[in-house]
Amino acid sequence: MKIKDFKLEVFFGKHEFTAPYLLTQSDCASMSIHEVLDLEQDAKEEFLNSWLGYTEVSGNPELRKIISDLYTTMTPENIVVHAGAQEPIFNFMNVLLEKDDHVISQFPIYQSLFEVANSIGCEVSKWSIEQGEEGWLFDINKLEKLIQPNTKLIVLNSPNNPTGYTLTKEEIEAIVVIARKHDIYVFCDEVYKGVELDGSKRPWFADCYEKGISLGVMSKSYGLAGLRIGWLATQDNELIEKLIKMKHYTSICSSGPSEFLAMIALKHSDQILERNLKIIKENLKIAEVFFNRYPNLFEFNGPMAGPVAFIKMNMDMPIDEFCDKLVEEKGVLLLPANIYAFSGNYFRMGFGRENFAESLEKFEEYLVEKKYV
Ligand SMILES: Cc1ncc(COP(=O)(O)O)c(C=O)c1O
Repeated sequence: MKIKDFKLEVFFGKHEFTAPYLLTQSDCASMSIHEVLDLEQDAKEEFLNSWLGYTEVSGNPELRKIISDLYTTMTPENIVVHAGAQEPIFNFMNVLLEKDDHVISQFPIYQSLFEVANSIGCEVSKWSIEQGEEGWLFDINKLEKLIQPNTKLIVLNSPNNPTGYTLTKEEIEAIVVIARKHDIYVFCDEVYKGVELDGSKRPWFADCYEKGISLGVMSKSYGLAGLRIGWLATQDNELIEKLIKMKHYTSICSSGPSEFLAMIALKHSDQILERNLKIIKENLKIAEVFFNRYPNLFEFNGPMAGPVAFIKMNMDMPIDEFCDKLVEEKGVLLLPANIYAFSGNYFRMGFGRENFAESLEKFEEYLVEKKYV
C-alpha cells in the first residue's frame, strides 16, 4: 500500500513536543490518571487490580454499553472500540471501499478522511466550504450535484476541523435524505461533538441513517488523547462484523487500563464536557478582544462547536512561511492552511487549552516586534 505523508502529523512531529506555546491544538485540556480516578469512588483500587491480559476485540462490553448510551438508538452490539480515531478511519475505509469507487469528502478536512480512500484507488471529490457573509457555510445542493453513479461514500467531519463549522439538525436531515435517495454510506467523524457553543446537541449520523457511521473518540472534546480509545457506531451489523475482522489485523484489541479509564470518564461525561466548554468559552472571549484590536490584519470567525477555528491573516508573506518563522523565533505554534491543502492565508487556532491567554500574549508580542501591528 502506498499512502502520502500525513502533512499535519509530520508538522506536529517537528514542533508539538518542543514549542512552548501551543496555540493551535485541537484537543481540549487533558487530565491526569489521578484526576480521572477521582471522579468515581473506589475507582483507584479497582484500577490497580485490573487485569493486563487481552481484552475483547469489539471492546469491553461495559464500555460499549456506556458508549451506546450516548446515542438514542444504538446498542452495545452497534459499537466497535478502536485505538483512537485514526485506526477506525483507516479500517473503515479499507473495509468499505474498493478501487474505482467514488467518494465525496467535505473540504477542508483531517487528511486521513480522504487520503486513505485515495490510497485505495478511489476517486475523491471535494465538497468545499464557502465563506459567507455570516461565516462559513456548506451548500447542500452542491453536495448532491457531486454524486455519480459509482459514489459509495460521503465523508463528513462535523464539528469540523479546522473551521469549527458544525452541520445543523436540518442540514444533517437533508444529507440523510440525499444519501438514502442515492443509497450511499455516510461516514461522519464526530470527534468534536459535545462542546457546542450554542449548547444545542445535533443528532449522530449513526442514529439517523441506516447507512450512517459515527466516529467518536476520547481524544478531543474529552481531552483524553493518551487513552487511545475511539469507536465506530452503526446500525449496519454486517459492517460491524467486517470491522471486527479488520481489527484482527491492526490493534486486535484495546488496552484494558485505557478502557477502564474511558469508562470512568464517560460515566462523568457531562462534567468533563462542561469543564472543557467553559475553558473554550473563556478563551474565545479573550480571542475576540484580541482580534477586535486588529481588524485589518485578521478575519476571525469563531467556532460553532469544538475547540478550533480557521482564521484569515491579511499579509503578503505566505502563511506557511509566517508560521515557520513564528515557531522558530517565538516558540508559538499555529497550523498553516497548506497543511490542509487549502489555499489562502488561513491558520488554525485552538481554544481548548488552559494556557491559551499566555500563548496568545506571546503571539501578540511577536506581531508587535515584527511591526505587523
Ligand atoms: C477530525 C479528526 N479526526 C480524527 C483525528 C485523530 O484522532 P486520534 O488522535 O484520537 O486518533 C483527529 C486528530 O486531530 C481529528 O482532528
